[in-house]
Amino acid sequence: MEQPGTPDFDYYPCDHKINHVEYTSHALTLIWSDQRTSQYHACWLADNDAGSAVTNTLTREREIDFVDMPGDIGIQQASVSDDGTLNIAWTADWPESRFLPGWLRAHDYSNDPMPDDGLRQATTWNINDLTEPPTTDGTEILRDDDVLEAWLDNLAQYGLARLANVAPDDGMVADVVRRIGPIRPTNFGFTYDVKTKANPDSNAYTDMALDSHTDLATREYQPGLQFLHCLKNSTTGGAGTMVDGFKVAEDIRVENPGVFEILSTWDWTFTNRARETDYRWVTPLIILDRDGQLSELRMTAFLRGPLAMPFDRTEKAYAAYHYLVEKIREPQYRLRFDYRPGDLVAYDNRRILHGREAFSSGEGERWLQGCYSERDELRSRLRILARNRRAAIIGTK
Ligand SMILES: [Fe+2]
Repeated sequence: MEQPGTPDFDYYPCDHKINHVEYTSHALTLIWSDQRTSQYHACWLADNDAGSAVTNTLTREREIDFVDMPGDIGIQQASVSDDGTLNIAWTADWPESRFLPGWLRAHDYSNDPMPDDGLRQATTWNINDLTEPPTTDGTEILRDDDVLEAWLDNLAQYGLARLANVAPDDGMVADVVRRIGPIRPTNFGFTYDVKTKANPDSNAYTDMALDSHTDLATREYQPGLQFLHCLKNSTTGGAGTMVDGFKVAEDIRVENPGVFEILSTWDWTFTNRARETDYRWVTPLIILDRDGQLSELRMTAFLRGPLAMPFDRTEKAYAAYHYLVEKIREPQYRLRFDYRPGDLVAYDNRRILHGREAFSSGEGERWLQGCYSERDELRSRLRILARNRRAAIIGTK
């Protein structure tokens, strides 16, 4: 008999066999060949059945919601076939289910820690940890998935990753980013050219220094990723700077919890000043997730709008802001590097604060081309690259 499907398109090596099954009508316990124990509820198993009664076998999306199954669904009998498949017959009038052991093992929610998707966790840094952006040779970036994965792995971990030797061609940054996923267009275009312009609609398009900042803090959803590809640079000055905002925030949290509390809960306003658009957003400068972990920084001094805060909080808010900016400016956090033609620098715009030193536009030429994308696209591409590796392993077994 063919192996059961899974409610997705991934590959699940069955490295462990089910040695023993125990069950009641409500729950089921598996004891694996390595003695690990996994427990699953009957409702969860019924809900995640990859068979055609529940899941569309072409799209692998759920076709029947759990609430539309028989209300009294429970386990009547559970057993393991010779090929290792778990079979469940239900107490209600409902087709029997079959589960692939590798899938069950990968989605075991009864153990601590909960199953994760295998992506790298953030490693925060200052210049004692990183003296230059983690760099991968990008000569083969459009063709070689190993190069792509090495680059993206650094980006997920450090929030900053550079490719060297990417052909310095107009439009190349878009081709490279499409290897990850869709580009996010903005009012600055699908891609944008960072060079001095006669009528600049951003400080970026001048030769002035740019203090450490995130881009587009004015948006409800601040872009997750930014890419800058250096096509030409024969000017003097203009070194790039990067600060790990998560590292700065972590340190403030330890050194001054009161300031951290203000920075992560009191709202500031960001507004853009473009002639044809009027984006605004109100947000704390440090954004935490529901577990209190760092999720995002919003930090664009040149797009801060007038603060609208209760009168008795305003001076405290400015003092906290002052503390944050002084901290960001400490040299220990500021990674400094030169843009060479062919360099393509990627960073997490919701974590890393980028900037540049002033450059001399009177001599030579400087042309960076940039675009945005999202953290979602990075995570999706890393999962697919890992999935392809699992498929290759299974294919050679
Ligand atoms: Fe910027």
